[in-house]
Amino acid sequence: MTRTLITSALPYINGIKHLGNLVGSQLPSDVYARFCRARGDEVMFICATDEHGTPAELAAAKAGKPVAEYCAEMHKVQSDLATGFRLSFDHFGRSSSPQNHQLTQHLAGKLAEAGLISEVSEKQVYSNTDGRFLPDRYIEGTCPNCGYDGARGDQCENCTKQLSPTDLIDPRSAISGSTDLEVRETKHLFLRQSKLRDQLDSWIDRQAGWPVLTTSIAKKWLHDGDGLRDRGITRDLDWGIPVKRGDADWPGMEGKVFYVWFDAPIEYIAATAEWAEANELDEAAWQRWWRTDKGADDVRYVQFMGKDNVPFHTLSFPATIMGSGEPWKLVDYVKSFNYLNYDGGQFSTSKGRGVFMDQALDILPSDYWRWWLLSHVPESSDSEFTWESFQRGVNKDLADVLGNFVSRITKFCRSKFGEEVPEGGDYGAAEEAVIAEISTSLAAYETHLQDIEIRKASAELRAIWAAGNEYLQAAAPWVAFKTDPEAAAASVRFALNLIPLYAALSEPFIPDAAATMLEAMNAKDTPWPTDITAALSTLKAGHAFSVPDVMFAKITDDARDEMEARFTGR
Ligand code: MF3
Ligand code: ZN
Repeated sequence: MTRTLITSALPYINGIKHLGNLVGSQLPSDVYARFCRARGDEVMFICATDEHGTPAELAAAKAGKPVAEYCAEMHKVQSDLATGFRLSFDHFGRSSSPQNHQLTQHLAGKLAEAGLISEVSEKQVYSNTDGRFLPDRYIEGTCPNCGYDGARGDQCENCTKQLSPTDLIDPRSAISGSTDLEVRETKHLFLRQSKLRDQLDSWIDRQAGWPVLTTSIAKKWLHDGDGLRDRGITRDLDWGIPVKRGDADWPGMEGKVFYVWFDAPIEYIAATAEWAEANELDEAAWQRWWRTDKGADDVRYVQFMGKDNVPFHTLSFPATIMGSGEPWKLVDYVKSFNYLNYDGGQFSTSKGRGVFMDQALDILPSDYWRWWLLSHVPESSDSEFTWESFQRGVNKDLADVLGNFVSRITKFCRSKFGEEVPEGGDYGAAEEAVIAEISTSLAAYETHLQDIEIRKASAELRAIWAAGNEYLQAAAPWVAFKTDPEAAAASVRFALNLIPLYAALSEPFIPDAAATMLEAMNAKDTPWPTDITAALSTLKAGHAFSVPDVMFAKITDDARDEMEARFTGR
């Protein structure tokens, strides 16, 4: 049996994610996980909250809570929203877990043993008022280049010039506004990634089939010199994983923690260990996914992420894994995404611009969002959410095509034959034509899903739904019934058989609607089809069903305008 390990980039803990975040990793990874399971793969689908770093500390301070408490609460919120959107993770972990502490410290120790860690003394800005070192971007001041007074210590937003904190005129803390700053000496660990350049380069060269978006970003970082610069992997913060070499203290590193981007990807592995613990399984149960010496060599590992995450997943994390000298599983395929924009601009967490996951579920069921987002997933270029496009996608694809088909045929059958599949007549040329058409589409659909071309897959699925609608329109059993009830019965039987088939094929995209269809058709265990002719003869004459409630309500123009007005900023 094929074993597929799937991870979605870990959402930051600091706040509820918007639909742009959702569609840029979690949602497409869920489609793929569901597809793989439906095809019979053994799947391990992992996600978690990314809980460390300054943004988490600041968000907690803003909420007036201790950071550990804040993270525990936000984890629950994000976990519930994941359930609300039907994200079918096998485990939704936390990067602050004991498992991640242990594994991160372990890997740092191995990297040190391999001579890949150096200790570097640096000068950094310390804020006396805040009682902490300030990361570059939390220092603000006047740009020496353009005079903009809100420039950050890493970059001026106004003229885009790259800065270092000491370039700023009149620097102040972005946290408290205090100007009581001084430069202090502090020691940090650096990962000597540059020593792994050749190994990384040849590994990436071997990944022939990766998406262009992924490879182009990876190659650019690898070759423009900056990407593989030795990288600081520790920080002077309170909240994080304490710097240790395995179990042992690291002299001179007391009170420091690992940098969030060092420990976050390690959580993919640690979350699988959390999964094992939660299910009362032993170490072997998670190691067979991650250790090539413990059975993971036949696992195919696929990662999903937004394009800004690509360098960390194609260079930094592999550097950690390779550098450890231990047989950890490397990623086999990195699927990355462009950005979804919101109504002529960008989604913005800080400005509250766009629709956030909690708000979306307050307005409409998750399938509506899943369908629109997945059929507009920013794969080959950025894409844009507009309320008009959303309304069109829901009304045309879901309500007019799929919903209408199911409701029309089940209601017609109930009125003329009762709530069971009618007998009489045989499938003929019209049915054969539909079978041929759907067989062709199914092959394309499966290919797109295997290739993780979600947008193309959604178009194929839509075509499969449309084929049923067109068939029904042409067969018109409501007309045939008057003159040739046997022919009408055969058409109705054929159309009813399309419903469980549609449910199985639609499940990766719209799992709730799929469940509703299967329940109505009394066909819960309908498998992924291998042969369309056989699939469409599954429900025999006499099989009882019921008419489902309206599956998709149309979005009226008024409702659309209202939603649009409500979401101009939070
Ligand atoms: N939290 C990061 C982001 O939202 C992603 C982390 S992915 C991980 O951009 F692998 F590092 F965890
Ligand atoms: Zn400037």
